[in-house]
Amino acid sequence: MTNKELKITYLEFECQSQLDPKDRELVEAAIKAMEGSYAPYSKFNVGAAVRLEDDEIISGANQENAAYPSGICAERTALFYAGANRPDKAVTCIAIAAGQGGKLCEEPVTPCGSCRQVMAQTQLRGGRPMAVILVGSKRIWRFEKVNDVLPFIFDSI
Ligand code: THU
Repeated sequence: MTNKELKITYLEFECQSQLDPKDRELVEAAIKAMEGSYAPYSKFNVGAAVRLEDDEIISGANQENAAYPSGICAERTALFYAGANRPDKAVTCIAIAAGQGGKLCEEPVTPCGSCRQVMAQTQLRGGRPMAVILVGSKRIWRFEKVNDVLPFIFDSI
């Protein structure tokens, strides 16, 4: 038996102004995207913005439904739009922000498992690492690749 260890590294920033300009722009787009959130049930507003390899930014927000499972998270709204409309462009980065009552959450919002798996597939499809930026008003985390938020990615088929 061998005892194995998994190490994940990521950057923590205290405010948006510490980010490089392209990341800051994406974070601002994710926060802006929260305005498109339709969350009458959870009242939890999530915005996501993705940067494509040609620097186009596409955003999305969570869309809820009275039949609960029919709703969709902000990340998948943005990623599926990108996949459907810009199929040949790799996604290089995604930023995610969330808030309640018009106030950004203090801690970074961490994506659900389904969204992580869709991020993994998007990264695989693009053939290059996709960075993940999780936004909070107190701190911002930046992961270089999806594997850092979803270790042991399922990509066996
Ligand atoms: N939500 C997202 O949009 N992204 C996440 O990563 C976590 C959760 C949405 C789904 C639902 O509309 C609301 O937040 C509460 O779960």
